[in-house]
Amino acid sequence: MLHFNIFTLFPDMFPGLLGTSVVGRALGHQWSLDVVPIREFATDKHQTVDSPPFGGGPGMVMRPDIIDAALRSVPSARRGQLIYLSPKGCPLDQDMVKKLSKSPNLSLLCGRYEGIDERIIDTWDVLEVSIGDFVLSGGELAAMCLIDACVRVLPGVLGNENSFREESFEDFLLDHPHYTKPKVWNGKQVPDILFSGHHADVKSWRLEQSKRLTEKRRPDLWKKYLDNS
Ligand code: ADE
Repeated sequence: MLHFNIFTLFPDMFPGLLGTSVVGRALGHQWSLDVVPIREFATDKHQTVDSPPFGGGPGMVMRPDIIDAALRSVPSARRGQLIYLSPKGCPLDQDMVKKLSKSPNLSLLCGRYEGIDERIIDTWDVLEVSIGDFVLSGGELAAMCLIDACVRVLPGVLGNENSFREESFEDFLLDHPHYTKPKVWNGKQVPDILFSGHHADVKSWRLEQSKRLTEKRRPDLWKKYLDNS
């Protein structure tokens, strides 16, 4: 069982999307979730969690004392690696997803506003993770992406254990195109090779398609493929 602790100012967002479909069906079986509402750890009567940045600048910064109290509310044995979702983080990739999915526990800290006071990162053993080169309005959606990606690779979550053997990012290639019924749609035929019945030919056609697409669309990945083959 993979357990997540989510530290957020918006506890109502969870499980949200993660409660539906394959990942939702696995909730309570292959994975579990505890949501820690950070605001409950505020100490003043207005339940303030943020403050303007020292040195000036726009926006607000989440206070370290309140985040620290929220983090400490989960027993250390149940915490696991602490991950802070942030556009400054290391880019999340399928390799990292597979490693993280093997953990028994993970704690995901979701920032809002301009982010969190840096002293949290200096004090705790924090892995900063970004889900891409764009800025979201908070870490919650990024945390959901990370959870979805980790849960779907857990044994028994996807029906077909083989279905991620050929998907994008396995062996540094993007996935090949897929076709299904009808054989002709909108004047377009499904490629003949897929009806040939020759498994090896279909496999090499798909590999060729994957290579062409990867070279064209993702030169960074293509280089890794060439270096590893
Ligand atoms: N928070 C805001 N933007 C983010 C991103 N791109 N990745 C992770 N966390 C974020």
